[in-house]
Amino acid sequence: SSFISVANLANQLGVRYNQLSKSLATLGFDDDQLGHDYILDHETAALVAEEFGFTIINDSIEKMDEKYDVQPAPPCEDLAKLKPRPPIVTIMGHVDHGKTTILDFLRKSSIVKGEFGGITQHIGAFSVTTPVSKKNITFLDTPGHAAFLKMRERGASVTDIVILVIAADDSVKPQTIEAIKHCQKSNANVVLAINKCDKPDAKPDKVLQDLTQHGIFAENYGGDIQAVRVSGLSGLNMDKLEEEVVALAEVLDLKAEFNGVPVEGHVIESQVKKGAGNVATVLVTRGSLKNGSIVVAGQTWGRVKSLKNEFNKTVKVATPSMPVEVYGWKQLPEAGDLVIEVPTEAKAKSVIDYRIERSRIQQQLKELDNINKQRILQK
Ligand code: GTP
Ligand code: MG
Repeated sequence: SSFISVANLANQLGVRYNQLSKSLATLGFDDDQLGHDYILDHETAALVAEEFGFTIINDSIEKMDEKYDVQPAPPCEDLAKLKPRPPIVTIMGHVDHGKTTILDFLRKSSIVKGEFGGITQHIGAFSVTTPVSKKNITFLDTPGHAAFLKMRERGASVTDIVILVIAADDSVKPQTIEAIKHCQKSNANVVLAINKCDKPDAKPDKVLQDLTQHGIFAENYGGDIQAVRVSGLSGLNMDKLEEEVVALAEVLDLKAEFNGVPVEGHVIESQVKKGAGNVATVLVTRGSLKNGSIVVAGQTWGRVKSLKNEFNKTVKVATPSMPVEVYGWKQLPEAGDLVIEVPTEAKAKSVIDYRIERSRIQQQLKELDNINKQRILQK
């Protein structure tokens, strides 16, 4: 039975057409009988796939990447192994409605309350301990950032909760609506921060009323979304905002494995630092990252030399939802890269070799594909 074209199979196996036709020749296929559009039967395709380390299960070609690459461990099924983790929160809203002011207030108040008293580094994520409940919240302050786009492409969503900021003297505006659409599409959990409530012309009730026109129903406005009337400038009700986030996180029952699983995380940002080399801010999502942990990300790897928090203070271990600066990368990983722990340096090196080779072949395939397209156009 006909199954797949040579070109499609080559594409799915991540090999060049030439490699595939060589392999087909050994199976007795005549070179000039073959072409990109030649349709192979199931059995032939399976034989060839196997040669390249793939298997065909039912009708789908299963990549045998696990043989050479490293993937996240399957989801944890033993609920007893899961522990509560802090919520990861981003802030969205219209221009000038006060996103940065709110983040700065949270960041500063966390420094004042913190025991370090140092100057914070501007890293793409930071932790706050709430004043009343003493729970942690992780804020990401770069939602427009390349890292997020890349993560979204992969279908990974690191954000648990969105704080939607609306200025009480300006109400719902185009980017508010955009943010609402984003929240609805990604099924994000929303807390409303009705900002600038210190201003005499603030009309928070009007904001909540206007929001109902866009499917956002706050408590007392036909729904159960929490709304807090704040001022990022004066600090009015900012503690309440943090407590609402913590309360929502509890409802969401956010949990992760802290131990017994290879570390996973995402690169939020990266840079070369004078005297320190390649540094990446990593948001850990699973497991515990420590000095000596060996991690791969994109096409690079590293043995963790040191971990630092946003206070530039060395930390021994980074657990789920903790952002940390990771030192010790061979090359600079990219924002959005998935970080995975591997057991040995040898494994890290072979994973990176494989990824580099795979992307080289994929690049060649793409070029080949373009050449073929041009040929067809010229005909
Ligand atoms: P973009 O990053 O440009 O989208 O703006 P933003 O949402 O980060 O707003 P930003 O925090 O920069 O605030 C815009 C202006 O509003 C600044 O002049 C702030 O000082 C002012 N502002 C922010 N929050 C408050 C508030 O609660 N009360 C008052 N009175 N002014 C505020
Ligand atoms: Mg801003």
